[in-house]
Amino acid sequence: MRPKIAVIRGDGIGPEVIDATLSILERIVEADFIEVRAGKRYFMETGLPIEEGGMEKLRESDALLKGPIATPTRGRTYSSVNLRIRREFDLYANIRPFKSYEGISLRRMNLVMVRENVEGLYSGEEELYEDKAITKRVITRRGARRIAEFAFRLAEDEGRSRVTAIHKKNVLKLSDGLFLEEFYRVAAMHPGIEADDYIVDAAAYRLVKVDDPFDVMLLPNLYGDILSDVAAGVVGSLGLCGSAQVGDNYAAFEPIHGTAEDIAGRGVANPIGTILAASMMLEWLGSRYGLADLAQVGRRMREAADRTVRDGILTPDLGGGATTREVAEAVLDRI
Ligand code: NAI
Repeated sequence: MRPKIAVIRGDGIGPEVIDATLSILERIVEADFIEVRAGKRYFMETGLPIEEGGMEKLRESDALLKGPIATPTRGRTYSSVNLRIRREFDLYANIRPFKSYEGISLRRMNLVMVRENVEGLYSGEEELYEDKAITKRVITRRGARRIAEFAFRLAEDEGRSRVTAIHKKNVLKLSDGLFLEEFYRVAAMHPGIEADDYIVDAAAYRLVKVDDPFDVMLLPNLYGDILSDVAAGVVGSLGLCGSAQVGDNYAAFEPIHGTAEDIAGRGVANPIGTILAASMMLEWLGSRYGLADLAQVGRRMREAADRTVRDGILTPDLGGGATTREVAEAVLDRI
């Protein structure tokens, strides 16, 4: 089988890190890459956030590799393409691995965040009254259960020993209460994996304060969004971290960072996070379609990216002088 991979290059540094990653993928896998235009730049040119027929193109593909997309908070704006893709394909699990590098990271860390990706404060349910705005924080039993099951399965598959649920049940008694109730119900079905929980503010402190703070973290949407940037800071740069957004039938892979307008167009963005996201994509495609070779290439790509960083081939966000292209070439050499 020859996978069809949709590609959204995105805004800001998106095209730079995506092109660098494609320059590797095109050399190591047999696949069709199908560009889908979307994002702020496309919107400014055409008035459309995603090209006509774009969602169809995604539906016809096996996976999506994407760069960050800007959602302007001021001026002419549009509803988030990211949220639309997550909802349309029900990409309910956002998986973000964080692994430290000696001499670069602030602390030792090897953890995976499993973030609930379609509910919580990103429910999209908002109401505006004259002097009052309300955003509904929705946590459903089904949503809480399936993301907890996902986290325990991931722990088992990766040989990890503990899953920690992150919450604020002391204040958000009902919504986080339900999240936690389902977590422990699912935990009881996985006796081989330890289960515990942490209040979100204490978890933020622990992330920066101790080595090996967590193993697998299970987080409602907003906590996952915020704590993953904290973890990226500890690892050393937002540019070092990749993510997978997974549903039952489709998945999208992207770096965790945004469009980084401050460095866009200079060829110095760190492509490692996007390369790691692409390696997760190959592993996901490999396991979904029983393509052991593809999964193997994905693992090699991840190891090569890690080695490139350990070998000190670094972009300026990590104090180095390498360009985006040079880092990608170094990864390819190591594959
Ligand atoms: P950002 O992640 O773009 O930038 C934060 C800081 O990290 C900046 O100093 C930037 O230079 C640095 N940085 C980020 N990625 C880097 C890389 N690969 N290499 C080197 N340095 C890097 O966060 P910000 O400024 O909050 O977001 C900008 C825009 O991105 C917003 O419009 C936001 O909505 C969008 N965004 C999109 C995401 C997506 O499409 N998945 C995710 C996060 C933000």
